[in-house]
Amino acid sequence: MFPSNFLWGASLSAHQTEGAVNEDGKSPSVQDTRPRSNSQIADFTVASDHYHRYREDIKLLAQMGAKALRISLPWTRIIPDGVSEVNQKAVAHYRNVFQTMQEYQIQPLVTTYHFDLPQVLQDQGGWTNRATVDAYENYVRVLFQEFGDQVSHWLTINEPNIMLLADQKILGFHYTHQERYQAFYNLMIAEKKAFQACHQLVPGGQIGPVPNISYVYPGSCRPQDIRAAATFNAVRNWGYLDFSVRGLINPLLQAYLRKTGVDLQILPEDQELVTHNFPDFLGINYYTSVTVEYPQAGQDRQNGISDQQSEDVYEKDFYKGLTNPYLEKNDFNWTVDPLGLQTTLELINDRYHRPIYITENGLGAYDELTPDHKIHDQYRIDYLQSHLESIQEAMVNGVDVQGYLPWSAIDLVSVHEGMKKRYGLIYVDRTEEDLKTLNRYPKDSYYWYQGVIEHGEVNGNATTF
Ligand code: BG6
Repeated sequence: MFPSNFLWGASLSAHQTEGAVNEDGKSPSVQDTRPRSNSQIADFTVASDHYHRYREDIKLLAQMGAKALRISLPWTRIIPDGVSEVNQKAVAHYRNVFQTMQEYQIQPLVTTYHFDLPQVLQDQGGWTNRATVDAYENYVRVLFQEFGDQVSHWLTINEPNIMLLADQKILGFHYTHQERYQAFYNLMIAEKKAFQACHQLVPGGQIGPVPNISYVYPGSCRPQDIRAAATFNAVRNWGYLDFSVRGLINPLLQAYLRKTGVDLQILPEDQELVTHNFPDFLGINYYTSVTVEYPQAGQDRQNGISDQQSEDVYEKDFYKGLTNPYLEKNDFNWTVDPLGLQTTLELINDRYHRPIYITENGLGAYDELTPDHKIHDQYRIDYLQSHLESIQEAMVNGVDVQGYLPWSAIDLVSVHEGMKKRYGLIYVDRTEEDLKTLNRYPKDSYYWYQGVIEHGEVNGNATTF
């Protein structure tokens, strides 16, 4: 049984759902401008039309039993020029969104920024430019002032680790190694400023980071492979959480930066900020696990990572991703590893001792709408059920998991695959090429989740409809 106050919910981001890209004063973000592959036709112009249909979506989620909804706010709508003028139309819109959630007794968990940096700031160097930290601080102060009476729980920056490591796929451009780690440092300073501002401006407000954390397995017990996994754990996972929670740059990450010639620009006043501002909880996104080995001579590849799946990870002399032979993959070639979630949660708990919300977890799949508007997504139920069982085991072992907000509440435009890869508990009637009706249809997983929320347990629920 999950505790009666467990925060059952679901997650979304603004740019992947809202559409309305040219309405109410919104300016372009890097997501609107990034080049897309030929097979990715769906863009964010209409997306799932959530900007216009948020009332219907919130109502459906309330009927499912959701007690929380994670959304993100788009910087480009709130402060279209990135730095100064606050757009009152946008403020009014999101006050209505939060008011609607309140009417349905749904608690908002709000991400301040989910991959969608204003293009105008990217044009000036984006996160490699320290001025973006100041712009972000100004932006979050506006959020806390405008919405602090409606929103108590805030999340800072969605998956800075994946955004930087998979830059080409998520942002549409490559950072140099030096730029990537200057951007890392600036993002982490920005996050600290958000912790500080939230605690100053939101009475009783709570705030946490929201990285994508998957424990990295070594490919074998060969000492070099153990070392490769330790390094990639530092680079992918602990570097971000250590900065947030412990106020330091992880020593293995520091060693890696030193050996790879990175020279970080650090301001003298940063030390005070970094060591005095901490999160109240951790938001953790988890989809898949990662396995690496030490790269042998002759195994050279291009340095980098193409997405959060591990196999393409490569850094000469440090680590190389490999296919884990013990795990199955989903339709989109991502490894499925529910036990990995339990291990990850227990390790996070051991390192950081903070309450945890699972802020993303879910299965991207090809769904089929039947003529009578049903979606029989037993594969998604199986995925969610196995991961919830794993969370439950972690909780029995002492991990303080406070809530589960799977990805995603409604179908949305996937970062890597557009509209053909669906995550939603609620189907959105559009395809990659055709906007169709945009009607909403609850999937079998919606009804399954409704049962889980109602009974507070994952075992023994009917899974056929
Ligand atoms: C997370 C992101 O990395 O992964 C989401 O926070 C994203 O925005 C999700 O949608 C799944 O990735 P993808 O590429 O399948 O959409």
